[in-house]
Amino acid sequence: MTLRLVVLASGRGSNLRSIASAIDAKECDATIEAVVSDKSDAPALLFAAERNIPTRVVELRSKSERSEWDALLAKTVAEFTPDVVVLAGFMRIVGDAMLARFPHRIVNVHPALLPSFKGAHAPADAIAAGARISGCTVHIVDAGVDTGPTLAQAAVPVMPDDDAESLHKRIQKAEHRLLPHSLHLIATGAIVLGPVPRFSVSADEQRTLFSPDLPQTP
Ligand code: GRF
Repeated sequence: MTLRLVVLASGRGSNLRSIASAIDAKECDATIEAVVSDKSDAPALLFAAERNIPTRVVELRSKSERSEWDALLAKTVAEFTPDVVVLAGFMRIVGDAMLARFPHRIVNVHPALLPSFKGAHAPADAIAAGARISGCTVHIVDAGVDTGPTLAQAAVPVMPDDDAESLHKRIQKAEHRLLPHSLHLIATGAIVLGPVPRFSVSADEQRTLFSPDLPQTP
């Protein structure tokens, strides 16, 4: 089934681009129905506009309006009837309205091997902890911060001379393969989303759930 995606992005949107490229290359059976941001100047929105993908901005003006913001975000995203909502560098925690509207259907990419290094500074935290291997995780979003069930992970080395930026760059290369590939596995039914995700992947596909060296998919 071709997966209808709504992508939420706050920043550069390199993961959004990787999904779009994988769709173009027929490596990800999906359509990007809309890109929604909490920041009106997010470069991700420009990329979407260039490709004639509808865009919406739902800004959080003050912390006291969080639940209204979350409800408006859910309503805005729902207009595009997505099968899956992708958090691709969305720097806000989605709340109850989003989780209720899209139960087990929000997928996030995080720049660390969860459950290690949750939060907004994962590459810096991995270096500070002296990790020799880090990576990225694609997971289902739940009510916690970076706590939902893992769908796929890819490992990358932490080099002795890395700083947070150089490590994040290496991790992002892995993200750009792992995220579109994970979405493709959801589209094919190899991954079934739910409170406990189910995997019906072939022996060949199994290694693609944890290896950055992903094969071309038909
Ligand atoms: C990614 O590294 C992702 O893991 C994290 O935010 C970053 C977003 O990058 N959640 P981009 O905007 O997709 O380039």
